[in-house]
Amino acid sequence: MHKQLQNELLTQAKQWTLEAGEIIKDNIHQPTAVATKSNHKDLVTVMDERVEKFLTTNIKQKYPDHQILAEEGFGDIVTTLDGVVWIIDPIDGTMNFVHQKRNFAISVGIYYDNIGYIGIIYDVMANQLYYALKDHGAYKNEEKLPTLKNDLLLSESVLGFNHSWLMKNRYIDEENMQNLVKKIRGVRTYGSAALQFAYVAEGSLDGYLSMRLSPWDFAAGLIIVNEVDGLTTNISGEPLDLLKQTTVFTCHPQIQQKILQNYLT
Ligand code: 2AM
Ligand code: CA
Repeated sequence: MHKQLQNELLTQAKQWTLEAGEIIKDNIHQPTAVATKSNHKDLVTVMDERVEKFLTTNIKQKYPDHQILAEEGFGDIVTTLDGVVWIIDPIDGTMNFVHQKRNFAISVGIYYDNIGYIGIIYDVMANQLYYALKDHGAYKNEEKLPTLKNDLLLSESVLGFNHSWLMKNRYIDEENMQNLVKKIRGVRTYGSAALQFAYVAEGSLDGYLSMRLSPWDFAAGLIIVNEVDGLTTNISGEPLDLLKQTTVFTCHPQIQQKILQNYLT
């Protein structure tokens, strides 16, 4: 993608994301009807749809030849990552939006011919905007994030994952996970995949594991973590497929192999 288009898309995507955040803030105290999708933990509100419509309408109007892959269905049916593809989650952490009115994010990733160029994760209620431009680093509110090159022991690391990692399931060995929890310093659960990617990028988490995420949950985060030299794969250590649901492991480079080899596979 041309340098000029990269800069234009970054500026434009940040502006629309901030405007979408204003729509949410203006309505945060309105009562919200909550519907469930695949199960009782999988939520959607009118605000998810309103934000997605706002973003997709703007994109389609200004960039009619771009494709959009978005969670709530106002985008396109995307089967290839050819050309410019926007991958959008209007509210990542809808359960937090409903129950806490905070700790959710707008997530926007922009890819061109399968390569990630722009990632934006906006923690709306905390006014924290994380973004990255390929080969230009990652930023939090316009301040550049340092790359993850500090020494780090597993015994000093804090990982993000949720309760499902401690229950019996087909992806993991429970005893391995219990040993990992004993070995590391602590576990945190924030309820938004995008925010946990942002936290890995800024170093407030050292890794984040999820059993099942969709492309819009990680498309932006992958690019942001990449820009600080963090590593993101599925839990078998393979690159993520941006068109499928997948397990996800994003991590500080110093402990990534140790966790993959000793606890996940
Ligand atoms: P969402 O809020 O956009 O649905 C919660 O642990 C994290 O996992 C959130 O980022 C949530 O994204 C994501 N997630 C992905 N698939 C989910 C599902 N089927 N049910 C609930 N959360 C899901
Ligand atoms: Ca969502």
